[in-house]
Amino acid sequence: MQSPFEPTLLFAQQKDREDELHSFRSRFFIPSVPTAPTSFAAPRDSIYFCGNSLGLQPRQAADFIRQELEDWQQLAIGGYLHARNPWLTYAQPLRQPLARMLGCLESEVTVMNALTVNLHLLLLTFYRPQSRYKILMEAGAFPSDQYAAETQVRWHGYDPDDAIIEIAPREGEKTLREEDILQSIDQHKDQLALVLFGGINYYTGQLFDIAAITTAAHKAGALAGFDLAHVTGNVPLQLHDWNVDFAVWCSYKYLNGGPGAVGSAYLHERHAGNKDMIRLGGWWGNEESTRFRMEKGFIPKPNAEGWAMSTAQVFNMVCLKASLALFEEAGIDRLRTKILLLTSYLHFLLQTLDNIRFHIITPAEPHRRGAQLSLYFEEHGKEIHRQMTDAGIIVDYREPGVIRVAPAPLYNSFEEVFRFYHILRQFQ
Ligand SMILES: Cc1ncc(COP(=O)(O)O)c(C=O)c1O
Repeated sequence: MQSPFEPTLLFAQQKDREDELHSFRSRFFIPSVPTAPTSFAAPRDSIYFCGNSLGLQPRQAADFIRQELEDWQQLAIGGYLHARNPWLTYAQPLRQPLARMLGCLESEVTVMNALTVNLHLLLLTFYRPQSRYKILMEAGAFPSDQYAAETQVRWHGYDPDDAIIEIAPREGEKTLREEDILQSIDQHKDQLALVLFGGINYYTGQLFDIAAITTAAHKAGALAGFDLAHVTGNVPLQLHDWNVDFAVWCSYKYLNGGPGAVGSAYLHERHAGNKDMIRLGGWWGNEESTRFRMEKGFIPKPNAEGWAMSTAQVFNMVCLKASLALFEEAGIDRLRTKILLLTSYLHFLLQTLDNIRFHIITPAEPHRRGAQLSLYFEEHGKEIHRQMTDAGIIVDYREPGVIRVAPAPLYNSFEEVFRFYHILRQFQ
């Protein structure tokens, strides 16, 4: 079959003209390629394909911060009730846009803390080992998730070598087969307490079938939780309808919330609304009507916010608020459509390169990936990464041997994908 793509600049520029989301690029700061202090060359935009690590700054973020600084100057403590975005409820308007992306109810989302902290807090609720005590994960999960699982099982007195089951790709393969995941869940059904997976694996870029994994976990009598760091703002989900028990994510990748921005968590309504669920409490998770009575006795809110603990961290949420406004305008479905086109174009171009040797280890089927393609170099990966950096391309390198390339649909273009390929074509 003839490819719908062409390896030319004119083709890429035409695709940009057809792209309904192209104008969003101008609403972000694009980092320039560093020039030597003695250079008179005009600054030029880098090719930033690193939104899977740290998203770019929305231009309106500074105004959003300035507003909170002004309200703090003018109102001080009064800002909790009278700021233009009252700080007492600052997190609440962030929940609906996130719920739309993740396909869940607003009441199932809470914006708080950071990803690993939230993972631990939810494991305290959802990992309560008794006769079932094993956690099944993908081998090579993000290290923080591995450390969280390892230290949780130890906390409960188990040996991680026994209590954590890792599913690895088959010999000679780099990604997991869905049937192997489902089969492994079934195989361990007598002892399985929890299936804990990344939604997209950070290294391979493989998007897992969250619905199928959740169904299989439930059939095996276990719960299903996901780290959606690489999914949120990238792939639309249906967490509620898929019956996913819980999930956590960060806001500094595709969500453009800024370095170390606030994290979030999802708990299915059947858990979030259950006041008897075991958790660690703090006053921000307490019913608002009684929070300021300063009385004994924790009464959790009847939703995911019942897991919040501390005062809303306004300045850690403000850039996320600025960015979510852009997501609302663009719409996650249009973003997904663009991602599929951008990555398919990138995939097509990369396959025509024969001057450098690598394998694309991210699944070739578009429905099994998000915005990231992982290029695996058996040799010289670091050296190629250095050459890319010198050429003004910002991507990251992850041991062993992988360069991750992630065009983000809000600010990357087809022309950049073409230029990336064009630069690589000249490498020796
Ligand atoms: C998949 C994944 N999980 C967890 C983390 C760690 O998140 P945090 O440092 O916000 O706890 C990251 C960080 O990049 C990640 O990529």
